[in-house]
Amino acid sequence: MEIIPTSPAVGAEILGVDLRSIDDNQFATIHQAFVDHGVIFFRDQDLTPADQVAFAERWGQINVNRFFTPVEGHPQVAEVRKEPDQVQNIGGAWHTDHSYDQIPALGSILFARETPPLGGDTMFASQYAAYDALSPALQEMLLGLWADHSSRHVFGTDPQGLFNNSDAATQDAVHPVIVKHPLSGRPALYVNLAFTLRFHGWTDRESAPLLSYLYEHAARPEFTTRFEWRPGSMAIWDNRAVQHNALNDYHGHRRLMHRITIEGVEVDPAREQPRPERTAA
Ligand code: SIN
Repeated sequence: MEIIPTSPAVGAEILGVDLRSIDDNQFATIHQAFVDHGVIFFRDQDLTPADQVAFAERWGQINVNRFFTPVEGHPQVAEVRKEPDQVQNIGGAWHTDHSYDQIPALGSILFARETPPLGGDTMFASQYAAYDALSPALQEMLLGLWADHSSRHVFGTDPQGLFNNSDAATQDAVHPVIVKHPLSGRPALYVNLAFTLRFHGWTDRESAPLLSYLYEHAARPEFTTRFEWRPGSMAIWDNRAVQHNALNDYHGHRRLMHRITIEGVEVDPAREQPRPERTAA
């Protein structure tokens, strides 16, 4: 197996492995690459949905998605689909999946089935790099802050029929703004444009200027890598270490991906402190 970083800050491509038949040692190497690089990529995999489920089960418990259409016969596998006549895509802004859950998902395993002739790449940004590049004074302030996150404003509205089950969008969570990564122990920025509402205990207006700055900062080009998909490509990302953004630049073409999300753990603050009471958003 060969592990080749895809940018200085984040991401690595893993060559020379068939994910249908890996042993425990190979899995340990893949898992360590995931911890070291935040997102890992594979090419030319020939996987059925059942193969993808079997591989995903090595990572932990599978989270059955409440909102996306499942693959027939495989409720653990969610379709991330955009048809030629659709305008909106899924995940087309910088975000962290499932930050609206009090126990947010570890990450996702996304497998490309059909890709457009050009475009439809996904960008990933290291939130370790984002934290590290902040001034010490701002780091110090953010280390003491928490933020409110919710799914209601995204999945509860369902403007163009992209999501099923919008009545299930009732999740609210409070997380540290700077988390201690559960695997690496490193501090990472943990607010995102899609699901973060405000700093906990602050008003929306008070929160907006600093959150806007952090969203822009979190996606600075030098913190990112960009993955160009082909059928048979796979990405596995860690939501506690990276944000991602599915580029919506392929109108008139179909893009079909199969996503499995893995359950995570409650995220702890990088600086030890009491967890605030959760209040409704
Ligand atoms: C997502 O946000 O999970 C979708 C990512 C993608 O389709 O590239």
